[in-house]
Amino acid sequence: MKKNQQLLSLASDVMEKAYAPYSKLNVGAAVITPTGNIYLGCNVENISYPCGNCAETSAISAMVAAGEYKISRIAIVSNGNFEIKPCGACLQRIKEFSTSKTEIITLTPDNKIKTYKISELLPTPFEEF
Ligand code: THU
Repeated sequence: MKKNQQLLSLASDVMEKAYAPYSKLNVGAAVITPTGNIYLGCNVENISYPCGNCAETSAISAMVAAGEYKISRIAIVSNGNFEIKPCGACLQRIKEFSTSKTEIITLTPDNKIKTYKISELLPTPFEEF
């Protein structure tokens, strides 16, 4: 399994490819699954703002398109000078493919690695249907 630092580094590489001409916030996400495969995604904005995709959504889509459905860890980085955490909608998307062990990895502005469980960031997911 890749170390968190390597996962963050891959997220940072894909972040460079983001299409974010409106917000100027480039975001990259790297998902690693129990098989050890890694799926990357960046945000893709649109002139019709609600049509844009978050980086996590792109990475999760790549994972599902490859036939994998469990996230072991997901690393997220941005070019902003703050610790980026998944938006509410992306937390729900991450939750869909998470277990109680799934970890969300972020980086603080002073380059400290932070690790969260999905239950910490989304304590009350929508899960009854
Ligand atoms: N964004 C992400 O890619 N992931 C998040 O978790 C939060 C926000 C993107 C969406 C938009 O392109 C830009 O960041 C500014 O909101």
